[in-house]
Amino acid sequence: MTGMTSSSRPLLNRRLAEFGTTIFAEMSALALSTGSINLGQGFPDTDGPEEVREAAVRALRDGRGNQYPPGPGVPELRAAVAAHQERRYGLSYDPDTEVLVTAGATEAIAAALLALVEPGDEVIALEPYYDSYAACIAMAGGTRVPVTLRPHDGAFRLDLDELRAAVTDRTRLLLLNTPHNPTGTVLTRAELAAIAELAVERDLLVVTDEVYEHLVFDDAEHIPLASFPGMRERTVTISSAGKTYSFTGWKVGWVTASPALVTAVRSAKQYLTYVSAGPFQYAVAEALSLPDSYFAEFRADMLAKRNILAGGLEEAGFTVYRPAGTYFITADIRPLGETDGIAFCRTLPERAGVVAIPTAVFYDHRDQGAPFVRFAFCKQAHVLEEAATRLKTLSV
Ligand SMILES: Cc1ncc(COP(=O)(O)O)c(C=O)c1O
Repeated sequence: MTGMTSSSRPLLNRRLAEFGTTIFAEMSALALSTGSINLGQGFPDTDGPEEVREAAVRALRDGRGNQYPPGPGVPELRAAVAAHQERRYGLSYDPDTEVLVTAGATEAIAAALLALVEPGDEVIALEPYYDSYAACIAMAGGTRVPVTLRPHDGAFRLDLDELRAAVTDRTRLLLLNTPHNPTGTVLTRAELAAIAELAVERDLLVVTDEVYEHLVFDDAEHIPLASFPGMRERTVTISSAGKTYSFTGWKVGWVTASPALVTAVRSAKQYLTYVSAGPFQYAVAEALSLPDSYFAEFRADMLAKRNILAGGLEEAGFTVYRPAGTYFITADIRPLGETDGIAFCRTLPERAGVVAIPTAVFYDHRDQGAPFVRFAFCKQAHVLEEAATRLKTLSV
């Protein structure tokens, strides 16, 4: 099959034509064929807390969630999500009308865009993008308008003037992500306040992907955009259990928003999966109620891992952007005499036995991302130390 029928019409519809294959498939195959350490895809190499795993086993055994759970999600999980938002951020949501459980954040993003975007609407997103954004905007028939995060003083920063200039009469929504994958940027209180003012002034909806809300380091603070004046009614906040509890395979995510927005998102979601992950929903409800010490230890563990990998990359000769959040590091390959991240990542497994992802693939302006590559550090310390040792061979 060549992707064409006999009438030579491509099989893949034109909205998705540019999203045929992902870089992750290519790089994971390279990792396997070369026996490399795979720091490409963002999943942990150890499971999350034993008590959460046991909670899933209990739910399965007790017959909770083995049949279709309720469309909006099981009441226990909706209550736990609302309690989490209240406890951590002082945001109050009604579990019955303002919380929706989804098949991971991925489905929440897809459903929000399919529900809220009409063909011809413009959607502003921060570039480089998490890879599903561009595809979901395209599936909704929207036009993506990238605003580029640019390296400045050791971090990738948002230019608020550029963001303001990107808004037109056709802009329907802002699609934000903080902490931001792949750059590790955490938007500051001042930046979020300015974004909120802009959204109110131009009457924009905002979809904000906060799946790394518990992974912020050093002095960075995660502040939900929904907590700013005028934002609660226009913001769809998305998070999920995958990153916070290291169970990325369970695919339990959620939306918090006003009743009208939740109803809109649910209208799309019910025709995607309808429902998913029944027993895991009960387990995640328990996970959300873990004491604060769990989140503190999780963050400390990831911070130590960040430092191992960042130190290793620096010693290998990269310019390293130490992330303020997420479990990814973006590094600049130019000090190694390289300029093309895609070519670099294709040869890195052979040269050093490590797999990374070229961030150019997450840009519309590929030239802006050309010299950057992304490494995931959600791996065991000894794996990161071995990767650091291997990468040092690049500088000799
Ligand atoms: C920014 C961002 N959003 C969403 C997701 C997907 O989350 P989930 O696994 O809950 O669908 C990821 C996973 O890598 C991510 O990095």
